[in-house]
Amino acid sequence: MVSADFLVIGSGIAGLTFALKAAEHGSVAILCKREMQEGNTLYAQGGIASVTNPEDSFASHVTDTLQAGAGLCDPAAVNFVIERGPLAIKNLVANGTNFDKIDASSNYDLAKEGGHSRRRILHSGDSTGAEIEHNLVTCAQAKHPIRVFEHHVAIDLILDKASGEVSGAYALSVENQRVETFAAKITVLATGGAGKVYKYTSNSDVATGDGIAMAHRAGAEIRNMEFFQFHPTVLYHPQEKSFLITEAMRGEGAKLITLAGERFMPGYHPLAELAPRDVVARAIDAEMKKNGDDYVLLDITHQPADFIRRRFPTIYSRLLELGIDITEEAIPVVPAAHYCCGGIVSDLKGRTTLPRLYAIGECACTGLHGANRLASNSLLEALVLGDAAATDAVEQLPLVITNDDPPNWNDLETSVSSEEVLVSHSWDEVRMLMWNLVGIVRSNKRLKYAKRRIDLVNEEVKNYYWNYRITPDLIELRNIITVADLIIGAAIERKESIGLHYNSDYSGTQSMKFHKTSQPNC
Ligand code: FAD
Ligand code: SIN
Repeated sequence: MVSADFLVIGSGIAGLTFALKAAEHGSVAILCKREMQEGNTLYAQGGIASVTNPEDSFASHVTDTLQAGAGLCDPAAVNFVIERGPLAIKNLVANGTNFDKIDASSNYDLAKEGGHSRRRILHSGDSTGAEIEHNLVTCAQAKHPIRVFEHHVAIDLILDKASGEVSGAYALSVENQRVETFAAKITVLATGGAGKVYKYTSNSDVATGDGIAMAHRAGAEIRNMEFFQFHPTVLYHPQEKSFLITEAMRGEGAKLITLAGERFMPGYHPLAELAPRDVVARAIDAEMKKNGDDYVLLDITHQPADFIRRRFPTIYSRLLELGIDITEEAIPVVPAAHYCCGGIVSDLKGRTTLPRLYAIGECACTGLHGANRLASNSLLEALVLGDAAATDAVEQLPLVITNDDPPNWNDLETSVSSEEVLVSHSWDEVRMLMWNLVGIVRSNKRLKYAKRRIDLVNEEVKNYYWNYRITPDLIELRNIITVADLIIGAAIERKESIGLHYNSDYSGTQSMKFHKTSQPNC
């Protein structure tokens, strides 16, 4: 058994921000499914939104966030995160993160993305997440009270039966194929997103919604799962399954056109290519369906080649390797599942509804995003809440009385499966059904059908789960099923189209009965 004051599950921006602060006050164990840096943070391109320009204001960033959230944001969460942004950025920079500046001056080179009324996004070229993640990993590796367990897949939270408190987690060591017990005074879920629930996604392979599923099984409240954001422009290419083309490219004037060469966004929204993400994703989906095309094109060739190479170096080089010179030709793109706006209900201290359990980052639902996340607000939220949660957890630590002696994992009655194909088949089935039936455009009929199918797969996999020795694939499959079920349930409950949830049976009829965050554990 491993014991620590703080058990942090996840090593992205949220988990590492928490860990670095908590390690000043106690021992920290971090679990991650693969190598430490792997996760959505690593792939973030556009940047991090914050008010750093004297001409910008908190009020303006707040207004843009509330507008994107379609009336379902919690204004207290919005103010909290936005007002703490500049200090959080300052701390990140002090830790070694570099953001691009205008020439040799000390002013940041601010980018613009959809839904922002002005340029306010700090970035490091088009690989902001890698810059942040590499720095945080370096800092965490240098902190001695932090022990990192790579290739450890958390399976379930450990609940103290008498008190209902969370006292750690069980995790599968991929190397030795054994389930280990991690006991902790405070457990933090920082497990990131759930894009892998869908067939097409911009997300890292680790984004299977594990934290949300674990918290749900333990009885924590989950909210707003119907609001899954689809990014409008992910590369369409057989060799590259989930490569994002940043929205910042549209911020620099890139246009969306059909394969027949027609620009279509002005017909959908006055802000055209810079309309909110849900509008752009739906417009692309509609154009593809109308024209029978597999993709649309994103064209930045109007910009000078030097500018494109300097501003989007990662995208330029990767696409050149694939035979596309973006300075001369348009990029084939499609929408794909990108960000989970719902998640584990957590307050502005990162506390969940379960004692001794915190949730931060993309797996949490603080109320910042409402029905639709404003671009580049998620790195900011993870940073601010990672810090706020650590402050609170450190204060709580001396008050935690543990008489926990968690039982070891029992898999004596399980055997090694010779039917792994059942697991891979169910993976494909869940992801395909979510893409086809619970995607960008939904309907009551599709949702009902999806619910019947997911119930069936759930039943089949449950039997399998308890009879065979678990593997990372099986753990993740169980979790994507749980998350899919939560998304479908919440989507069925919401009898209106709002923000990211678009149901063709309620198009244009925003019932006043709703407009509220979805019920816990829907
Ligand atoms: P992650 O960085 O995803 O980290 C999750 C961690 O949890 C990983 O270490 C993983 O191994 C671990 N984990 C998960 N499950 C388990 C388990 N069962 N056991 C052990 N460990 C586990 N947002 C912005 O604000 N600006 C952007 O420009 C931007 N660009 C993006 C581009 C892409 C391609 C993507 C996919 C997302 C982008 N986002 C952006 C969203 C943003 O990157 C994420 O919301 C944010 O990085 C999430 O951080 P996190 O710390 O919550 O999770
Ligand atoms: C992007 O760079 O387009 C992604 C930004 C985000 O998801 O916030």
